[in-house]
Amino acid sequence: MFLSAAHKPKHRTRGSIITALDIGSHKICCLIARLDDQMKPQVIGIGHHLSQGLRSGVVIDVDAAASAIGQAVHAAEQMAGETIEDVIINVSGNHLQSLIHQTTLPLSGEVTEKEIAKALQLSRSEIGKSEQHKLIHAIPMHFAVDDQHGIKDPRGLYGDQLNISVHLIAAATNSVKNLMACVQRKHLEVEGMVAAPFAAGLSALVDDELELGATILDMGGGTTNIGVFQNGHMVFADCIPIGGQHITMDIARGLTTPVAQAERMKTLYGSTIATASDDRELIDVPQVGEDEDGASNHVPRSLLVGIIQPRVEEILELVRERLENSGHHQSAGRRVILTGGASQLQGLRDLTQAMLDKQVRHGRPMRVNGLAESTAGPAFAVAAGLLLYPLQHFSNPDIAVMETVAPTNIFQQMRQWLKENL
Ligand SMILES: Nc1ncnc2c1ncn2[C@@H]1O[C@H](COP(=O)(O)OP(=O)(O)OP(=O)(O)O)[C@@H](O)[C@H]1O
Ligand SMILES: [Mg+2]
Repeated sequence: MFLSAAHKPKHRTRGSIITALDIGSHKICCLIARLDDQMKPQVIGIGHHLSQGLRSGVVIDVDAAASAIGQAVHAAEQMAGETIEDVIINVSGNHLQSLIHQTTLPLSGEVTEKEIAKALQLSRSEIGKSEQHKLIHAIPMHFAVDDQHGIKDPRGLYGDQLNISVHLIAAATNSVKNLMACVQRKHLEVEGMVAAPFAAGLSALVDDELELGATILDMGGGTTNIGVFQNGHMVFADCIPIGGQHITMDIARGLTTPVAQAERMKTLYGSTIATASDDRELIDVPQVGEDEDGASNHVPRSLLVGIIQPRVEEILELVRERLENSGHHQSAGRRVILTGGASQLQGLRDLTQAMLDKQVRHGRPMRVNGLAESTAGPAFAVAAGLLLYPLQHFSNPDIAVMETVAPTNIFQQMRQWLKENL
């Protein structure tokens, strides 16, 4: 697997602890894991709490978000019997930007780590020019030496020029600042940041999908994250600020029922695809303002499906548009893997298949041991991916070398920048 990023998480050995903090719009999840003898994360602490202070992946209330983070982390610490100091967090929201940058560097002989580091640095500085955006990942995708294209590792080759394609993923500076402020308010350090679709792909795609090409769709509460993987790299990332909570709100408004009831109806009776029996099946709909024994309406299930379906179609239409605009719609394989809590919506697989014209399967977190039943489902793919993120450097020592020789460490930079700006 050849997945890489711009920053360098701290070195870990067997027995080391890694902590993932998935700051979602619906829930905050903290996983504390210890690396086993095979360097595989073994989860020893789990804490999750309903999210507060976030909307569509973005912090809108630092106090509320920090409080939910504190509760999730505390629960995980209690279970693990460990006190943690640093966490790897996810970055999500429609401010995520993904672009492929090409750099050409003249060579005076053999390609060494120095040239690679210089080329990577030139790509990174592309984002550095903008005050509004902060680089999250710089993933070297392929190299060319003179007219030899598609080289995975150019070190040792002679030529006149080195060309490198780097996938840069950046996030809005202020959104990053707000996320870090929430975490730091709980006296935790941010060790690493991972774009949510990257994390979901790391945990839910099998090796063949990463290599041959696949798209991950992580449908959460407030967002739908898109990640396209090919030849072992993430080649495109995007985020649509619509998710399961929007479907719930549509139901609450459409049927004038309390949000909690709308949520219940969605998970119990909701579907994205109408069936012939929907008109005959009646659902009990408690009305807003009535107590539990108060007035209820009885509506046919087709009414509920008629509210859910257009919203899901809207999301999938946007996904298709973003994929088409990215230029990766055709090239990135014919597979889509669905994760995130909202992926459990009945009928979603078939509707996605029909709308995106790809083979679709449900995904869940893999490559991590010890996830209890409650955290082994699709809603925890991002959290598990955060645990896996620092381990790529062990699975691909070449990349670790390339990043070691890179002149700057984005996290040192980011800490410095926060000290100066917060
Ligand atoms: N069985 C189910 N059927 C349909 N929807 C479900 C089901 N279970 C959970 N959901 C929905 O999943 C959503 C939460 O998903 P998830 O936990 O992945 O969100 P999140 O990671 O907190 O949010 P985000 O990633 O968007 O910031 C909620 O809107 C919830 O209604
Ligand atoms: Mg999520």
